Amino acid sequence: MNVVDSEVVAAILQKQDYQVTEEIDEASLILVNTCSIRDNAEQRIRARLREFGRIKKENKDVSVGLIGCMAERLKEQLLDEEPVIDLVVGPDAYRELPTLLAQVETGQKGIDTLLSTTETYADISPIRMDKNKVTSFVSIMRGCNNFCTYCVVPETRGRERSRDPETIVSEATQLFNDGYREVTLLGQNVNSYRWGDKETGISFEQLLDKVALINPLLRVRFATSHPKDISDELLKVMAGRPNLCRAIHLPVQSGSSSVLGRMKRKYTREHYMDRVEAVRKYLPDVSLSTDIIAGFCGETEEEHQETLSLMEWAGYDLSFMFKYSERPETFAAKKLEDDVPERIKKRRLNEIIELQLKLSLAGKQKDIGETFEVLAEGTSKKSEEQLYGRTSQNKVVVFPRGSVNPGDYLQVKITDCTSATLIGVQA
Ligand code: 5AD
Ligand code: SF4
Repeated sequence: MNVVDSEVVAAILQKQDYQVTEEIDEASLILVNTCSIRDNAEQRIRARLREFGRIKKENKDVSVGLIGCMAERLKEQLLDEEPVIDLVVGPDAYRELPTLLAQVETGQKGIDTLLSTTETYADISPIRMDKNKVTSFVSIMRGCNNFCTYCVVPETRGRERSRDPETIVSEATQLFNDGYREVTLLGQNVNSYRWGDKETGISFEQLLDKVALINPLLRVRFATSHPKDISDELLKVMAGRPNLCRAIHLPVQSGSSSVLGRMKRKYTREHYMDRVEAVRKYLPDVSLSTDIIAGFCGETEEEHQETLSLMEWAGYDLSFMFKYSERPETFAAKKLEDDVPERIKKRRLNEIIELQLKLSLAGKQKDIGETFEVLAEGTSKKSEEQLYGRTSQNKVVVFPRGSVNPGDYLQVKITDCTSATLIGVQA
């Protein structure tokens, strides 16, 4: 999400004759796009700000702006706490950047953290900052209406709103014409995408189908699906289009219905399992990934065990795993007690990570001997002689370069693996 936002900001500033640089010493303006989802994300940003303070000391012409969720959450407080900051801009105020920068040039501080119910930056073509020129992201909606009790996103990114489907399709078409071969459609809860009214409007399933039809050589992924909203209809659409990738990210957060209740996730363990069964019925070769929070308010040992057993049952190929981090102003911060001691949170998280490593390895070992269509993305980090790419299931594959170029599709036979990577040869 933040990558696309940075690309939108780059597009807005390019119109003002700014250019993106990879060299921080060349920059006259440093913008830090921030995340507030966990406390340690904010702490890392504060550490970076100290570094920028040193740069500013050496070069008085440099301005520093903080944009994104942390800007939205802390507003003016940031200007008081972090004197290095000249500019604070929330996620819905990026169009104001030119005006705010003009203000900063006169020596004032600039701030705009107004949220909008309609802003989607639909008309702005992001300046792509990806390295490989093969895979890219397209934002299809902004904000979130779910108010999970632990989560700061509805406060920092505002109410949910969908982007005009025509602009989504034309952005994805442009990417394909520019040589890209994969787009990931992004939203906090893509299943609730809707443009127009229920009868005549466009649902997520319809949007996905439109994007899939741009070209069969364009792979399409999406994130994030919400377990309460993922429908059989969507799975049917996916089953009918091979370029809709066989990978679903379905954050479970916890395997315990009582914890899910406290999180206000609006589904139970049983409902989640029903959805996974539906996913596997329509897409037998799918890979599943998830997000898990360890040590949420009141989590007992039994509830934690339910998370482990659900992970085992679902056989996730990949998980993003976190310790619960209390966020100010959320329902949980106000009404629930963050009562799982830090060392227990840590131990539970470690158990979750250990189990996931085992599941990831097992999921890759079963691919050995199989052949997959791989989209080549770039040169492997470890060797110039090797390329890396991904299968439709989103598993990374490393293989000999041969005469393959990034952006090519090829068949790869898997010969070996680690828990993170498949290793293969062109079939
Ligand atoms: N503490 C820990 N993890 C969190 N997430 C969201 N809020 C918190 C929090 N307060 C995780 C969820 C979500 C992912 C993006 O971040 O698992 O799906
Ligand atoms: Fe946060 Fe829940 Fe919205 Fe995801 S669905 S962004 S976890 S409130």
